Amino acid sequence: MSYRFAGRIGNLQPSPTVAVSDRVRELKQQGHDVIDLGGGDPDFATPKHICEAASEALFAGDTHYVASAGIPQLREGIARKLKDDNGIDVDVNGIIVTPGGKSALISSVLALAGPGDDVLTFDPGWVSYEPMATIAGANTIHVSLDASDNYRITREAIDRHITPNTRLMIVNSPNNPSGKVITQDEVDAICSAAKDHDVIVFSDEIYEKIIYDDNKHISIAAQPGMAERTLTHNGFSKAYAMTGWRLGYVAGPVEIVKQIMKIHSHSVTCATSFAQAGAVAALNGPQDFIQEMVSAWDRRRALIVNGLNEIPGFNCPWPQGAFYAYPDVSGTGQDGGEIAEFLISEARVGVTPGIAFGEGSKGHIRLSYANSDQLLEESVKRMQAAFA
Ligand SMILES: Cc1ncc(COP(=O)(O)O)c(C=O)c1O
Repeated sequence: MSYRFAGRIGNLQPSPTVAVSDRVRELKQQGHDVIDLGGGDPDFATPKHICEAASEALFAGDTHYVASAGIPQLREGIARKLKDDNGIDVDVNGIIVTPGGKSALISSVLALAGPGDDVLTFDPGWVSYEPMATIAGANTIHVSLDASDNYRITREAIDRHITPNTRLMIVNSPNNPSGKVITQDEVDAICSAAKDHDVIVFSDEIYEKIIYDDNKHISIAAQPGMAERTLTHNGFSKAYAMTGWRLGYVAGPVEIVKQIMKIHSHSVTCATSFAQAGAVAALNGPQDFIQEMVSAWDRRRALIVNGLNEIPGFNCPWPQGAFYAYPDVSGTGQDGGEIAEFLISEARVGVTPGIAFGEGSKGHIRLSYANSDQLLEESVKRMQAAFA
């Protein structure tokens, strides 16, 4: 039997970060002792009060469909959070709760971009933005940012790439994979370009709580005149260690969100009912847990950055946010793909090759330090020994 698939599938590759985890799993099954630094999953348990709230809802019979856009208490909680934490004013009807931030992003892309449209992204950037545009039938424009200039976004670079067909610009800060946190100057460049070229900005703020040193998170929708042209994407996966709960959201102008609702309601109906009760507890409960996680990741950041910089040919800057180290390994004379292969076969450490995050990142690899101190110490030891 020969199967026929939709044309859009031909241009899609499976997620490279999932591919690393699959390879690690396969090696483990063969009896090898492999450490997986490929994924992006907080290594902390979801706080107990969140689990209890979901479990109470589950046992109270909250096991049916709920409002497609999300339960009112959660949407109200999100609106309050956006106001208090981010300075964003959003109507509750401009919020949809989705099964993960990923679902919010793809429904938004599908609602706003299609064949003949361009979606502008910045490299290095998250692995799923381009596939989402491809699924929508849109074209992706890559603005490649310079590592030696700390991946600075400038108005000039945006103007050089943007086209009359550009509908969306996707900004992610703190950035996956580089950890870069955008500054007010960069935010100003993005906002002025969005207004002058009349494009909608997607602000992916999923790592907003994971920031180190004096860096500050700035929300694009809170900038003057930007609320009407910005969709804020966020979720519970990273800040509350809730990746498996699959809970995210999109917030923005009611008129746009109404259109996204059509895709959301026909594709997922609603996010899981009792999981949403857990998210209400996450927003309303104590927040100090987040700072405890970030302090641990800050310590691990030092461990991995210092360890990597001791390897000849590696140059690892200090990530400003998120939980990934993103060294340039081209000083070894090999590219990121070759180094990733070397590390998994010789050091038994799984990392993601930089090419996954854009053409300009061939010389990089990404390592997640959302792992225990002990595993990270062991990884550094193994990598240093393999290069010695
Ligand atoms: C930049 C970025 N955006 C969005 C997501 C989606 O996260 P989730 O679907 O778990 O909410 C991720 C997950 O790794 C991410 O790295």
